[in-house]
Amino acid sequence: MPSLWISTFPLYILPLYLLWRKLHLWLAMRQAGCSPPISYKHTDPFLGTDLLSKKSAASQNGDARAIDQSIFKTYGKTVRTTLLGKNYFLTMDSQNMQTILAPSVEKFGNEPMNREACRPFLGDGIITTDGALWKRSRQLIIPLFTRAQISELSTFSGHVERMLERVPCDGEVVDMQPLLKMLFLDSSTEFIFGRSANALKTDSQAEGSVAERLPVAFDDALSGMRKRFMLPRVVLWIMPRDRKWLEKCAEVHAIIDGFIEEEMELQKREKVASESSTPYRYVLLRELVKITDDKLFIRNELLNIFFPARDTAGVLTGNVIFLLARHPHVWKKLRTEVLEIGQKSLSFELLKSMKYLHAVINETLRILAPVDGSWKTCLAPCVLPQGGGPKGDKPILLQSGDQVELVFGAMHKDPMIWGEDAEDFVPERWEGRKQNWEYIPFMGGRRICPAQQNVLTDVAFVLVRLLQKFEGCENRDECVEHVDAQVFTKESRNGVKVAFTLA
Ligand code: HEM
Repeated sequence: MPSLWISTFPLYILPLYLLWRKLHLWLAMRQAGCSPPISYKHTDPFLGTDLLSKKSAASQNGDARAIDQSIFKTYGKTVRTTLLGKNYFLTMDSQNMQTILAPSVEKFGNEPMNREACRPFLGDGIITTDGALWKRSRQLIIPLFTRAQISELSTFSGHVERMLERVPCDGEVVDMQPLLKMLFLDSSTEFIFGRSANALKTDSQAEGSVAERLPVAFDDALSGMRKRFMLPRVVLWIMPRDRKWLEKCAEVHAIIDGFIEEEMELQKREKVASESSTPYRYVLLRELVKITDDKLFIRNELLNIFFPARDTAGVLTGNVIFLLARHPHVWKKLRTEVLEIGQKSLSFELLKSMKYLHAVINETLRILAPVDGSWKTCLAPCVLPQGGGPKGDKPILLQSGDQVELVFGAMHKDPMIWGEDAEDFVPERWEGRKQNWEYIPFMGGRRICPAQQNVLTDVAFVLVRLLQKFEGCENRDECVEHVDAQVFTKESRNGVKVAFTLA
């Protein structure tokens, strides 16, 4: 009899381990004064593939957040789901987000989710690491966003004028999305590498130019990275190398290496100042070459900033125009404010003082932000104030390894915060409204988007120039609704097709 017990012992191990784990969690929860979290009812409670396939279908149908929204509606503002055997919390609760991003920031990290998935393309840098590595990267890029840098609008103005020359004045339909992407490609390459890709200069789009190759290769590399992002880390370790994707990464790397080698050559010949055509005082590439000749380190740092820089501001500007074209009364009111400034030159201070303009941008960031969520991994046990008990109003305990998605896009449309018209585009709601943890399009805490002021200034600049030049802006897309493209940012799958009429 004992030999039968011993021979079948392996069969008991897993259930015993699961039981022990459950007991251990229950005790820890009790000790921390927490209640069980509200949990999603999976049909596949072990791997959660039921939810995964629903989310993937929603994303293909053009509303990537539809499933999250319906979960919040049914269960509450913080819900525990299962993702490939792990606890995966979804939250749209501002108190929980504040806890994760501010007082308990040490207990959450980006690295477990980002580093392995992004490594072959982005390497180590501000986006993919935590701790000392992240701190070092953040220190290196912060000078990019000083007041002096942001106020330097002369070169940006040149790029904007080149873009405006390409916008038809006679009511012909134009898709603003690709034009805006070119604009911000030109300005971000200048800002980060000290040399613009000059995509908006007709001659620079010649076959084989950086302006032609970089966006295509970058998009291909990002789409492969997005797929990896969705896979569990253990699959990443065992799956065969995706050669096609690696070739795309290598193509981007070769372009960036070209920028680095050129800069190294210039610095060797001590010609940086005289040959540099950019008025920016702090150029990241230049500063990195000054401190090291490790090309891989430099490339990783550059890519980790170029990745969020390249498209986001262009997508946001496109989303503002998308909404303005569908709300002509807002365009008209905004134009009145813009015309009031007359011929004054567009400085950082002047743009900042335009209240309705900022209300329009804030409102777009509320309902149609390019980034509407963030993933964190719990690194040490942490109590979140909401999400437990039958009503979800009791504290819950997160354990190391649990993942949590901060769906701030859903919080930005919560009728309990914004009222019954929460889904509508109403810039007037910003009149006299103070910002707090219920509105965090750039997130908050020490990992807040460092480019926030820069983005707001540049987007405001482009909008003012458009409104100065054009009297009207009409939607020319048969599809009135916003349909999400399947990319990292929340951008329109159908572009931003509009027609402008001259003043
Ligand atoms: C509309 C435009 C933008 C929005 C809405 C936005 C939003 C965000 C958000 C929500 C995060 C936090 C991500 C997370 O931790 O999961 C973030 C981080 C970051 N953003 Fe932005 N961003 C924008 C544009 C930019 C631009 C133009 C740049 C660069 C020039 C940039 C650079 C960064 C960097 C480097 C981080 C990582 C910060 C860190 O982890 O310390 N962003 N951004």
